[in-house]
Amino acid sequence: MSAPVLDVKNLKVYYFTSRGTVKAVDGVSFNVAEREVLGIAGESGCGKSTLGYALLRLVPPPGRIVDGKIILDGVDITSLPEDEVRKIRWSKISMVFQGALNVLNPVIRVGDQIAEVLMYHKGLTKKEALDIAAQYLKLVGLAPDVLRRYPHELSGGMKQRVVIAMALILKPRLVIADEPTTALDVVVQAQIMNLLKQLKEQEKISMIFITHDLSLIAEIADKVAVMYAGKIVELGPSDAIFERPMHPYTQGLIRSIPSLRQRKTLTWIPGAPPDLRNPPPGCRFHPRCPFAMDVCRREEPPLVEVEPGHYVACWLYAKK
Ligand SMILES: Nc1ncnc2c1ncn2[C@@H]1O[C@H](COP(=O)(O)OP(=O)(O)OP(=O)(O)O)[C@@H](O)[C@H]1O
Ligand code: SF4
Ligand SMILES: [Mg+2]
Repeated sequence: MSAPVLDVKNLKVYYFTSRGTVKAVDGVSFNVAEREVLGIAGESGCGKSTLGYALLRLVPPPGRIVDGKIILDGVDITSLPEDEVRKIRWSKISMVFQGALNVLNPVIRVGDQIAEVLMYHKGLTKKEALDIAAQYLKLVGLAPDVLRRYPHELSGGMKQRVVIAMALILKPRLVIADEPTTALDVVVQAQIMNLLKQLKEQEKISMIFITHDLSLIAEIADKVAVMYAGKIVELGPSDAIFERPMHPYTQGLIRSIPSLRQRKTLTWIPGAPPDLRNPPPGCRFHPRCPFAMDVCRREEPPLVEVEPGHYVACWLYAKK
């Protein structure tokens, strides 16, 4: 098998606030293969966006990467100087940010905003850049006249397509899409999901698709990582995760998907995720887990391989 495009090892990203240290990403390891889509799921505040920022070396202060490796195409980017990172950001790894509809500058025409990226990174002329911008608008299903429009003249769905085009335009190896459909209504959400699925087939890119909504992950991901309170609690091929979820948290998330469980009562996991300044000892899920045992309150469960490629961090499956 070829080397993964991205290999993340024991990544820790903390925010050092005046009220304590928020351990937002706390020892996370996974990889993404060529043309693979990894879905990252978990409730609000579990560290999904922080993980995305870290992969681009864009963690905002007071946050920083405190440990681990992020190996992109064989190069550990955690130790690169910022000017080297700037060369690979957007060209090798890019991100559609959560709430990205607001990242477009309202007073600059869409075409000029896209062209600027190409002129800066590729040294193209304005005319060359606008030609490529038009091709990418077509790729994301927009007409060339969108180039001349201002962002406020576009619908939410059109803006999201523009932002996706910008993330793809330098042909990165890996695109991170952070909740790319959350701000959109259901119909437009379905259209953007179809666009992403089509891009997955057509373009030779790997993708990390971040969402709190496991049903969206079921549509697009080859592999799934379930995060809880800064940690990956289950990781495996999509089929395995949806057909044989093992971690009680994953099981709870799946039970709460309406479309997959139409005939059963919808259940949600009671309680709320912990404060990441002071997470519970042992298994961080234990205060909400119906299966919690003594060991769960004392010791952190290791992530063990329960079947090929399927990992789970839970004392129900690990040997003491
Ligand atoms: N700039 C910051 N300063 C301090 N703490 C932060 C900062 N940004 C995020 N956090 C904290 O880090 C943790 C992880 O936040 P993050 O935004 O990564 O979660 P998320 O999984 O993306 O949530 P959501 O689903 O709501 O987008 C949370 O506890 C959050 O409060
Ligand atoms: S380790 Fe224990 S508390 Fe944590 S999910 Fe497994 S059974 Fe529940
Ligand atoms: Mg987020």
